[in-house]
Amino acid sequence: MTKHHPHDYLPAAGHDAFLPGYDLLARLMGFNGVYRKLIEQAELAPGQSVLEIGCGTGNLTIRAKRSQPAAEVIGSDPDPLALRRAQRKVRGLSGIRFERAYAQRLPFADGEFDRVLSSMMLHHLDSDAKADAAAEVFRVLRPGGRLHLVDIGGDAAERGGLASRFMRHSHLTAGNLGDAIPRLFGEAGFECTQVATQRHRVFGQLAYYRAIRSG
Ligand SMILES: C[S@@+](CC[C@H](N)C(=O)[O-])C[C@H]1O[C@@H](n2cnc3c(N)ncnc32)[C@H](O)[C@@H]1O
Repeated sequence: MTKHHPHDYLPAAGHDAFLPGYDLLARLMGFNGVYRKLIEQAELAPGQSVLEIGCGTGNLTIRAKRSQPAAEVIGSDPDPLALRRAQRKVRGLSGIRFERAYAQRLPFADGEFDRVLSSMMLHHLDSDAKADAAAEVFRVLRPGGRLHLVDIGGDAAERGGLASRFMRHSHLTAGNLGDAIPRLFGEAGFECTQVATQRHRVFGQLAYYRAIRSG
């Protein structure tokens, strides 16, 4: 923990002071459409248990719940400030809750979830944490359960987004590029496929993945 890195996680907007602007920034970045697309791919059904890892201020978790009110939905994130914001947005809603957790150490039972969702979180993890998170997601999914993940990925750095130079030089985003994400989840035991991509004017490209825990 240094002056520049007061936490052992990278917060949603890069710094606590920017957190109040995160939801506006997310909207301006077109994330509402991204959340919608990921939820469609997840095919949530009544009675399912759904976990988001790295839920931040809860945007995707809350949309997942609204899209399938008969699912039980949990959002998890290590950042208590983001979770407090998420919690405020769901006052009065039942069947949704938020818990403080790191993706690489999930406080949930083996096979507890039908679906795990992840949006724009993976590039916040270094390579060891990515591998630990992939193993944890495998553990908490039931056999046949699925992870649906969207992040900067595939050939994003070649797509010429405003941040493409930064991405090639950041060890966090560089660890998402090419086939790194399918390889990461494949090594954790998943059948992982890139199901869609989308051009993005800042990140070059967002890639959507489905990872099935078949065994
Ligand atoms: C860019 S935000 C995305 C938030 C939300 N998923 C969305 O799409 O709006 C990335 C989030 O990852 C969280 N994060 C950072 N390190 C993490 C870790 N080790 N485990 C889980 N989440 C983490 C941050 O706190 C932040 O809320």
